[in-house]
Amino acid sequence: MKVVVLTGAGISAESGVPTFRDADGLWEGHHVEDVATPEAYDAQPFVVHRFYDARRKALAAVAPNPAHHALARLEEALGDDLLVVTQNIDDLHERAGSSRVLHMHGELLSAVCRACRSRSRWERDLADLPPCPRCGTPDLRPDVVWFGEIPYEMDRIYLALESADLFVSIGTSGAVYPAAGFVQQAAAYGARTLELNLQVSEVTTLFDETRHGRAGELVPAWVEELLGR
Ligand code: APR
Repeated sequence: MKVVVLTGAGISAESGVPTFRDADGLWEGHHVEDVATPEAYDAQPFVVHRFYDARRKALAAVAPNPAHHALARLEEALGDDLLVVTQNIDDLHERAGSSRVLHMHGELLSAVCRACRSRSRWERDLADLPPCPRCGTPDLRPDVVWFGEIPYEMDRIYLALESADLFVSIGTSGAVYPAAGFVQQAAAYGARTLELNLQVSEVTTLFDETRHGRAGELVPAWVEELLGR
């Protein structure tokens, strides 16, 4: 059975990583358009750098939760028949042991050079304008996909959705496309669809089945069920 899992901020919430769409509309004190658009970066690069530098540093203080670990167990059982597509830029899936993970919105632990376009693993700050490890130009930006930019790996993702038997969406609000449209894509090609979320999302009605609760409880239970344990 081929399974595609889409994860969003909700899977990392119990690890202490804040989600995006809080009730006050702010994202760790910032309006999203002030830190997550190419225009914001052009206008105020240091504000954007400091924001992502702080988030990168904060990764050291968080750890994968039972939902990430359950998906790693599922990969052990299914191998190449499982693909995790994440909108998250944290590295909690990898730290839980998952290796078949596509970061469609980029990664905090990566930087991209605006001069030579190369992507480098990056663990330090960017606000001090370090040189690109490839070409030496001090023009590195966070390797994250901002509003108005095209997500990574879309070809591989659509191919996987076309051959999936089961599509599962975990902890995402369905507010941001193209990820919010994956459920329809998968269903059109014949997959069963399941949503696991704390509450109703913007696309809940498109799923064959929805379960409400915390990812740290719902995901391990679903994985055990799927593995017939
Ligand atoms: N367990 C399960 N679901 C949860 C939990 C939890 N413990 N906590 C929150 N959720 C759910 C919320 O109900 C919500 O539907 O997770 C979802 C989080 O939604 P968002 O904050 O909108 O995050 P996400 O869907 O990942 O955002 C998509 O938007 O800002 C951009 O690029 C950014 O990747 C991000 C994209």
